[in-house]
Amino acid sequence: FTPEKIRNFSIIAHIDHGKSTLADRILEMTGNIKKLEKNDQHQVLDTLAVERERGITVLAQTASIITKYQNDDYLLNLIDTPGHVDFSYQVNRSLRACQGAVLLVDATSSIQAQTLSNLQKARDANLKIIPVINKVDLDSANIEKTYEDLVLQLDFDEDEILKISAKTGLNCDKLIERIITDIEYPKGDPEAAARAFLFNADYIGDRGVKCMIQMIDGEIDLARDRSIHSFHKSKKYDMFEVGVVTPELAPTGILKTGQVGYFLSNMKSIKDAHIGDTFYLTGSRDSINPFPGYEPPQCMVYSGIYPESAEEYEACEKAIQSLLLTDGSISFQYENSAALGGGFRLGFLGMLHLDIFRQRIKDEHGIEVIITHPSVNYKCHLRNGEMIEVDNPNESPDAAMIDYWEEAICDTTIMVPREYLEAIGYLGLPYYQEFLEEQIICKYKIPLAEMIGTFFDQLKSSTSGYASVEYKVIGYEPCELSKVVFHLNGEPVDALSFLVYTNKAREFSLYYARKLKDILPPQQFAVAIQAKIGGKVICRETIRALRKDVTAKLYGGDNTRRTKLLDKQKKGKKLMRQLGKINVNSDVFFKLLKR
Ligand code: GTP
Repeated sequence: FTPEKIRNFSIIAHIDHGKSTLADRILEMTGNIKKLEKNDQHQVLDTLAVERERGITVLAQTASIITKYQNDDYLLNLIDTPGHVDFSYQVNRSLRACQGAVLLVDATSSIQAQTLSNLQKARDANLKIIPVINKVDLDSANIEKTYEDLVLQLDFDEDEILKISAKTGLNCDKLIERIITDIEYPKGDPEAAARAFLFNADYIGDRGVKCMIQMIDGEIDLARDRSIHSFHKSKKYDMFEVGVVTPELAPTGILKTGQVGYFLSNMKSIKDAHIGDTFYLTGSRDSINPFPGYEPPQCMVYSGIYPESAEEYEACEKAIQSLLLTDGSISFQYENSAALGGGFRLGFLGMLHLDIFRQRIKDEHGIEVIITHPSVNYKCHLRNGEMIEVDNPNESPDAAMIDYWEEAICDTTIMVPREYLEAIGYLGLPYYQEFLEEQIICKYKIPLAEMIGTFFDQLKSSTSGYASVEYKVIGYEPCELSKVVFHLNGEPVDALSFLVYTNKAREFSLYYARKLKDILPPQQFAVAIQAKIGGKVICRETIRALRKDVTAKLYGGDNTRRTKLLDKQKKGKKLMRQLGKINVNSDVFFKLLKR
């Protein structure tokens, strides 16, 4: 394929507006996969089990498609982008490898927050945008209104908007035509030294890291070129396979200017695949211009991850390490807790990312883990002028050493139907407000710590799920924090320590103490729950003594049943952890985290 016959494009949309369904339909219509069974929920591009289960795209996948248009073969490279706010940084890098984007808008809900933010990213990247209304087959579709929104709010021309059903395939053929006629071909220089842009990477097991690249200039011919170099990492790798993805790997041995494809090499760690990096062939470092590098993904949420029992430590570590191989955006450190023993401190892009991690470790490795209360990263300014970063309450310095704290602030955009404006009044006054036809856009500065708390749940319930959110950290601001440590029968429990706003410390402690009281199993002795700040008790609850007698229901001398029941109780204890003198199982932590 010469560059003129290549189109590189993405589908961008708000979550659930139908990206994956459309990608499947395009693959099916161009003959790349056999027609999917009716009602088959399987989506080809969503490969992780958790993606299919939750119906969201976590890792971006790419597929090359060959299709005929006016008797010519064209190579379409479809780059799938993830849909949740936690992963919006991936959208950015995927778009860098495209010349065009299909903007998909669900006719039942019209424009949403991520429609706007993704459109902005696509416009910033100078992409040709094809506006498309999806789900027109549904009775609940409001096509006219969505059409109007696209014209009036997003400045599209009436005649450029397509109406499709990704589900039934209606007008998807027209969309494929438009991709060929409207989107420009990649304009690289076939004669120049090979220069490739790394836009995604996946760990694929024994064969190492699959690097997804777009050949900007020149070509890679495996018969001639064996070594490839990363510009920013300054490392050399030996390639053993080069090809395109359909989405299966199809080795071609060659990648030409404008093409999107992969290479496999002796690169073993996904951390070596620095997204946004430039790759070149031996000897041409001086003659190529690297692409301006991307910042590495920024972790937003940190949690301690512990095996349910000490015996599972090694299995847990192995499982975490193998997940780290597939996800370069999780940060990792060893951690020790007096209460929970040996464990790990991991950083995630957001709460969904953390949740997906927990589900993957369970689904893919059969391991249940204890996850401690998530924390954001704070900047702690000490009296001696030093600044340290603290994402773990237990590593927070002594109060006497601290001058002041700073916390991350998010620029948060919320979009809701007008009738819910009052319902979000509890967020205070937005610093920016824009009234659209039926929706309203509100922008707030909200601390990240609040975004990872009950923010999403509260917003969802107060707007009946109609609000959509987009956020990014824009800076740090001073805040007042206190470290609350819970004590059980006088013993401090490090797994139950928190950094909270000083003016909310009492409210928070009361809430947690009551919750602990509800959740902790009754013991044979009374248990005092105390929350302390710097040794001072700020609240207290008591769990009354109770002996759980599993044999209570038995009468008479049926000893075998009695032994069986006692055995069962003993087994249950194995999964238990000690908090102070109290046995708890990992469930306690799940329940504590759930609000
Ligand atoms: P993320 O991957 O999470 O960003 O979601 P997505 O945008 O890929 O959405 P997905 O393709 O998973 O579609 C969301 C839901 O809408 C699924 O239940 C689809 O079956 C359904 N859907 C998508 N397109 C259509 C359509 O044209 N008509 C109808 N009736 N349903 C559709």
